[in-house]
Parts: sequence; structure tokens; C-alpha cells
Amino acid sequence: MDKTITFTSELYQYLLDHNLDEHPVQSQLREHTATLESSSLQIAAEQGAFMRLLVRMLRARRTIEIGVFTGYSALTVALELPEDGRIIACDINEEWTSVAREFWRRAGVDGKIDLRIAPALETLDSLIADGEDGTFDFAFIDADKARYPDYYERCMTLLRAGGLIAIDNTLWAGRLVDPALSDPDTEAIRRINREVHEDTRVVSALVNIGDGMLLALKR
Ligand SMILES: C[S@@+](CC[C@H](N)C(=O)[O-])C[C@H]1O[C@@H](n2cnc3c(N)ncnc32)[C@H](O)[C@@H]1O
Repeated sequence: MDKTITFTSELYQYLLDHNLDEHPVQSQLREHTATLESSSLQIAAEQGAFMRLLVRMLRARRTIEIGVFTGYSALTVALELPEDGRIIACDINEEWTSVAREFWRRAGVDGKIDLRIAPALETLDSLIADGEDGTFDFAFIDADKARYPDYYERCMTLLRAGGLIAIDNTLWAGRLVDPALSDPDTEAIRRINREVHEDTRVVSALVNIGDGMLLALKR
């Protein structure tokens, strides 16, 4: 039986009211991003609350973010990391990440975030080439969907046993179940959901939050 409830706007507001415990700079960043044309790229606020909990539970110190945009998810993770914690943050867009840098600075976490402006695959491959495999606690994948399977494999290499990969947009606004759709992004998300589900190297859950978040814990 289907136990998943449908949200009304009142219920969604209730969820937010009982979920958010944002740092003031997180709220300022969400408000600023809401004024931008591409604001929908940002994770939902309740996803931030959830990620914060995950990072705390993992006692994460070294993390990877693929897809920074204006920096909300990286800010959320950085606020949870210890002083010597580090995020390798990957993006290709200077304009959006300049907003991110400003808000990270305001929150005093800029020293924890190593922003790499380059295609994320190049950054991940350079980390692997530098022998950093098995050293990361958490990875968040939220960039170009067609590359999700490649990002997942690189992150599996870079994570320690017991590390967690979170992958955003894995319910893809419901488009996954439309058989008429076979564009590269939709196909890549179908593929990552299938591959992670069948991957015996991880324990996984496809979580109904925001646009869907696939969690894979490396054994
Ligand atoms: C959905 S947004 C990320 C949202 C962000 N996690 C947040 O919470 O606000 C996706 C980002 O991925 C970046 N991106 C797209 N292709 C990329 C690539 N090949 N390598 C690195 N970043 C990429 C885009 O520039 C964009 O900023």
C-alpha cells in the first residue's frame, strides 16, 4: 500500500517550520539566490537540514561536492565540519561560484572550502592521481546529470569504507517513469538508480526528499 503522503503548501510550510535551523548566512544566501533566474538549481532547504544530519552522523572531515552553484549545500556541509575539515568543491561557473565565495566568507567557512573551477571529472581524476583514494567521508553529487554514473564511480574510489555518497534529483520530477522520455539526462538518472540499487559494494536508499536523493553507503 502507498504510504507516501501528498504535500499541500500548508503541510510543506509546516515541514519547513519544523525542519529549519539555519545559520543566519544560510538564510541570507537562500533569500539572495531566490532573486536569481536560476534559483531552482539550489537544493531544497529541508535537504540541507537532512544533509547536515548526515554529515554530523558520519563525523565527516573530508568531503567532496560536485555542483556548487551559489554555494548553499557546500555552506551547509562546511558549517558542520570541524575547523580542520575540508570540502573539495567542483564547479565550472565563475559567476555563480563568486556568489558562493562571498557567502562562505561571511559565514567564516571559506577556509574549509577548496573551490576547483574545472570540469568535475578532471578534479576527481586529479584527486585519484594524487593518491587521495579512500580518504573522503562524504560526497554530494548535484551537477550535470549525464555524468552521474562517472561521478559515482570516481566518488566510490575516493570514499573510505563507511563513507556516504548522496546524489540529488534522482526522482527527476517524476520523468523517470514516462516511457516516452529517453533524453540523455533522464537515461543517466535511470541508469544511476539501477546501478546503485544493484551495487553490492554499497547499502543504498532512494529517499523521497526534494527532487529525490539517492544515498549509497560504501561497505
Ligand atoms: C544544481 S546546481 C548545484 C546546486 C548546489 N548544490 C546548491 O545547493 O545550490 C549544478 C551546478 O553544477 C555545475 N556543473 C555543471 N556541469 C559541471 C561539470 N561538468 N563540472 C562541474 N560542475 C558542473 C553548474 O555550473 C551548477 O552550478
